[in-house]
Amino acid sequence: MTHVADRYDELLSLIHALASGDLAFRLRVPKAGEPGVHDDLEAVFLGLNMLAEELEATTVRRDAYQTALDELQRTQAQLVQSAKLAALGELAAGVGHEMNQPLQVICNHIEELPHLVEERDHEEILRSADEMQDAVGRASEVIRQLRTFARDAVRSEREHIDVGAMVHDSLVLFREDLRVRGIEVILDLADDLPPIHGNPIEVQQVITNLVLNARDAVTGRENATITLRTSVEPGAVLIDIQDTGPGVLPELRKQIFNPFFTSKSEENGTGLGLTISEQIMRRHGGTLTLRNNEPPGAHFTLRFPAEAP
Ligand SMILES: Nc1ncnc2c1ncn2[C@@H]1O[C@H](COP(=O)(O)OP(=O)(O)OP(=O)(O)O)[C@@H](O)[C@H]1O
Ligand SMILES: [Mg+2]
Repeated sequence: MTHVADRYDELLSLIHALASGDLAFRLRVPKAGEPGVHDDLEAVFLGLNMLAEELEATTVRRDAYQTALDELQRTQAQLVQSAKLAALGELAAGVGHEMNQPLQVICNHIEELPHLVEERDHEEILRSADEMQDAVGRASEVIRQLRTFARDAVRSEREHIDVGAMVHDSLVLFREDLRVRGIEVILDLADDLPPIHGNPIEVQQVITNLVLNARDAVTGRENATITLRTSVEPGAVLIDIQDTGPGVLPELRKQIFNPFFTSKSEENGTGLGLTISEQIMRRHGGTLTLRNNEPPGAHFTLRFPAEAP
C-alpha cells in the first residue's frame, strides 16, 4: 500500500501542465488493486482528470464567447457610425428649417420694397431694413453654430465647455422646428456655472438626443413644453431636461437605455439615442439618469464632474 504522496511527481506534472495552458494533459489513472496503489487513489486521479476536462471545456467556451463578443463590438461600432450619420441627417434638416425662416422673411420684405419706394414710405422702408438685418443675424447665427459643429467634429478633443452656452447653441438648430410644432422652450440657465471638461461635439450630441426625444414626446400634445435647466452641486454641473409628454412607464424605465429599444417607427428612431448618450456621459465621468416620475412628462438629468477652479 502506498500514499498519494508517492505519486507526487505525477500530480505536479498535471499542475504545471494546467498552469502553462496545456489543458489536454491527463493523469494516468492507477487501477485499484495495482501493486503498490492505495484503494482511494483511483478515485482521486479520476476526479482530477475530470477537473482538467471541465477546465478544457470551459476554455473552449470562453474562446467562443470572446469571438462572439469581438463580433458584437464590431457590429456596435458600425451601428454607432450609422447613428451618427442619422444625426447628421437631422442636423441637415435642422439647418434647412432654420435657414428657411429668415430667408422667407427677407423675401417678403424684398417683395414689398418696390411698393414702399413708390409710396416713399421712408419709415416703413427703415423698419423693413431692420427686420431684414435681424433675419440675416439669425441666419448667420445658424451658420456660426454649424461651423462650430463641423470644427469640433474634426478635432474631437477635450476642452473646457461652458455648459450654458452649449445648451443655448444646441437649441439654435431646432428653434424653428420646435416653433412650427408649437412647442415652448423654457431656458433656466444658472449664472457662474463652473466649466466642465469634455468633448464639445459629444456633449452637444447628448443634449441634442435628449431634446429630440423630448420634442417627439410632446409633439401634438397640449401645453407642449420642454424645460432646460442648468445648476451646480458640489463638484458637479447638472443639466435637467424635462418635458410635458406622457413620461416613461415604470416597467420601461430601464429598457429605454437598451440598444434598439424604441417605441418609434423605423424611420423615426433607431433606439440608439439614449444608449449612445449614456456611453458618452460615462466616458466623461458623468451620468445620465431618468428621474423618478415627477408628472407631467419625463425628466432626464445629466451630471458632469465640474472642473476644479
Ligand atoms: N422624453 C421622453 N418621453 C417619453 N419617452 C421617452 C423619452 N425619451 C425617450 N423615451 C423612450 O425611450 C425610447 C428610446 O429612446 P432613444 O433616444 O434611445 O431612441 P429613439 O428616440 O427611439 O431613437 P433614436 O435612436 O432616433 O434616438 C424612445 O423610443 C421612447 O419610447
Ligand atoms: Mg432618441
